[in-house]
Amino acid sequence: MKLFSLKSLLFLFIFSTVFAQQNETPQDFLKKEFHSERREQLRAKLPKNSVAVVFANPVRNRANDVDYVYHQDPNFYYLTGYKEPNALVFIFKENQTIGNKTFNEVIFVQERNEQAEMWNGKRLGVEGVQDELGFRVAYNGGEFKSYEIDFSKFDKILFENFNNDVRDNIRETADLYDLIKSFKEKVSFDLINLNNPTNDKLYNETKKRTDTETLKKLMTSLREIKTKEELALIKKAVDISAIGQLEMMKAMHPNMSETEAQGVHEFVYKKYGAEFEGYPSIVGAGNNGCILHYVENSKVNIGDNNLILMDLGAEYRGYTADVTRTIPTNGKFSTEQKLIYDLVYEAQEAGIAAYKIGESMQEPNDIARKIINNGLAKLGIIANEKSKHNYFPHGTSHHIGLDVHDPGNYEKFEENMVVTMEPGIYIPIGSDCDEKWWGIGVRIEDDILITDGEPENLSAKAPRKIEEIEALMKEKGNF
Ligand code: GLY
Ligand code: MN
Ligand code: MN
Repeated sequence: MKLFSLKSLLFLFIFSTVFAQQNETPQDFLKKEFHSERREQLRAKLPKNSVAVVFANPVRNRANDVDYVYHQDPNFYYLTGYKEPNALVFIFKENQTIGNKTFNEVIFVQERNEQAEMWNGKRLGVEGVQDELGFRVAYNGGEFKSYEIDFSKFDKILFENFNNDVRDNIRETADLYDLIKSFKEKVSFDLINLNNPTNDKLYNETKKRTDTETLKKLMTSLREIKTKEELALIKKAVDISAIGQLEMMKAMHPNMSETEAQGVHEFVYKKYGAEFEGYPSIVGAGNNGCILHYVENSKVNIGDNNLILMDLGAEYRGYTADVTRTIPTNGKFSTEQKLIYDLVYEAQEAGIAAYKIGESMQEPNDIARKIINNGLAKLGIIANEKSKHNYFPHGTSHHIGLDVHDPGNYEKFEENMVVTMEPGIYIPIGSDCDEKWWGIGVRIEDDILITDGEPENLSAKAPRKIEEIEALMKEKGNF
């Protein structure tokens, strides 16, 4: 007797495979070894007898009892891998002995809490950060207030100054507000903000010891050069974003709304496993494309002779892309749209060619500006190439990474930087030029990896040439 037919076994196999996949959480986040190695790199850069202090991002309120989806502070994530709020990490230059423990880093994290975890999901807790994130010394945040650490023995305490935007959640006795409060007390930080301090000695010592400038610079010098682990995630984020642009080109039709177009991109992000958008999506048709960071995306009918500017980026395992394509809503560029688009394209191509190790990061911007000024003059949109105008009001190049505008020194290109190249021309209705140009807004933005050879355009999968865009827009889409 056969217990199972071949067919039912096959079904069971497929079902269990699909089910197992659905139950899996993503396994390709940065590993604990990445984060601990980054801490070592930071430690190597710290001045002698110093400590770096980094806080988690605050929880931000959306309205009433609903908070925004939590997003970790990029520096904190880079150094720890911890994705929860209400935490604080100390990275010491030299070994410290406190109580019976000797260590060179310590993390304070959210305490496990059955009730909170029932509502909001699992917390790693002290054991979790030890096992999963590799911190040998970890405590609950509640222990920080009475933690015996003598900050007066350090020559430098490095941290970034506090934004006054942290709420005290009175139900949490060790939330970020409390951690910052205890830290400030321990280092007498509030004293240096006083105009007439009464204790001059403590004031002078605190002023000398606390440094709110250097940490930012050290983190920038680390984060602007990507490791191979980071590059793998950035490439994935950019690839997914390029697929979003590509799918949208096929799906576009003049009766679509901006909201729907945004939804197509974001659906693709989710389909390919990206958790978030790296910044609020920008989808603007016609004159809306001339608003640089237009995020309303609310135009119901995008019209059949407009351009639509789509600047979006998937965030994959913390790393974000930043890709812009501008396409005609009806699938065919008009004469004027074509002329402006080609000018931006030419500026972008020429700029990308300067993405070379050792080249000034200002160079692509200067190259693009020159081409655009000459082009605008030739088209009669400005009087001559030296005329002042506001049709290209932004720079062309910024780093991407954990932030869409990732930290950078903006000096010279170095290997393994990932930098956008994004020239644009925006001619809003009412501009001081022939009406035929009004409402044309074009930006083309790609994410470029600096290599020891040619620059690598990571977003090249999404077409940029007019003929390629028009050909793709004729294809049948999936949406
Ligand atoms: N998406 C924002 C920017 O391009 O900088
Ligand atoms: Mn950008
Ligand atoms: Mn962008």
